[in-house]
Amino acid sequence: MPNNREKPTFVLLKDKLQKNLDICQELTQYTNTQILYTLKGFDKVEGVSQIANSVSGFSIGNINELSQIECYTDKRIHTYAPAYHPKEVIPLSKASDTMSFNSITQWTQYHQISSPNTSIGLRINPKISLSQPSHCDSSHSQSRFGVSYSKFLLIYNSNRELFRDLDGLHFHIFCHQKLSSLKILLKHIATSYRDILPKLKWLNLGGGQEFTSTNYDKNGLYKLLNTFRLEYPHITIYFEPCSAIVANTGYFQTTILDIIEESPSIVILDTSIEAHLLDIAITNQKPKIKKSSNAPTPYAYRLTGVSCVETDNIGTYYFHSPLQIGDTIIFEDMIGYTMVKQTRFNGIGDVGFEVE
Ligand SMILES: Cc1ncc(COP(=O)(O)O)c(C=O)c1O
Repeated sequence: MPNNREKPTFVLLKDKLQKNLDICQELTQYTNTQILYTLKGFDKVEGVSQIANSVSGFSIGNINELSQIECYTDKRIHTYAPAYHPKEVIPLSKASDTMSFNSITQWTQYHQISSPNTSIGLRINPKISLSQPSHCDSSHSQSRFGVSYSKFLLIYNSNRELFRDLDGLHFHIFCHQKLSSLKILLKHIATSYRDILPKLKWLNLGGGQEFTSTNYDKNGLYKLLNTFRLEYPHITIYFEPCSAIVANTGYFQTTILDIIEESPSIVILDTSIEAHLLDIAITNQKPKIKKSSNAPTPYAYRLTGVSCVETDNIGTYYFHSPLQIGDTIIFEDMIGYTMVKQTRFNGIGDVGFEVE
């Protein structure tokens, strides 16, 4: 199939995005759970404006991300960063409805200067080990994400005054997970923080639950959340998904520039994994490609990029029919954590450049 786009292009499918958003809206409708879209994984304005119509608010990490959503004045904002830059704490807290701190040091340093209208909390690391990729597994002893729950409980019980303003607990431990892992987390919460839960106003259960996938047990989810709500009606539950909202909502398309006869044949694509598809390289994924299969066929090709490094290599794929120079190659499910990693991942600002 010839390519009708002049350059490698990410394509967002608005109908598919809306389907995922409808599922999120249903979740809010049936359980009163609030959905905060996490901007870090996909932040293009064309998609974000559509997302804004269907979610309660946004989850952001810094001033750059705040400036991207400032126009949605009726939306809730939750803010969290592994560490706040000193000059950002006050403006971020002024703009946020809820805000969580990642460490006891940052809590101690900033909880008193954050805006009185902001409900503040702490990210806890419950050290729950789940089967998930290492780039998102924070259960190990060296994780920098959140205060280890045993340390938190120890400090909380010895110095309650320090946590007088604590309104919420924030957990983000999931990556492409199903309901069974949420059950484990809610059990951990109900048992470990029994004395603290009565004074809390909110729990942020993070992202990483695959609500929008067809085999997710949605009725089980509603039941689980509503049972929790019955016991703790004063607590607002937030989820802050990105992947579940943008899953299967678009593709990346590019063209074959050359095919080198080898075994298997080497395809040079008009793209580069290092320049355009960094997330795939970093997290060692093998994206699905249209009209190819995992099972061997006679048409095996090694897909590579057009840059000058040997490692610009996407992998070997088995196609349903022979490829030709000029053909279009379509990478599926390519909206989340892909193009955003080219320059703007997590809203992290540019680095400087100076000549001395
Ligand atoms: C703190 C936090 N919340 C939410 C998310 C969104 O996770 P997901 O895209 O898996 O839903 C992330 C992703 O890294 C995160 O770090």
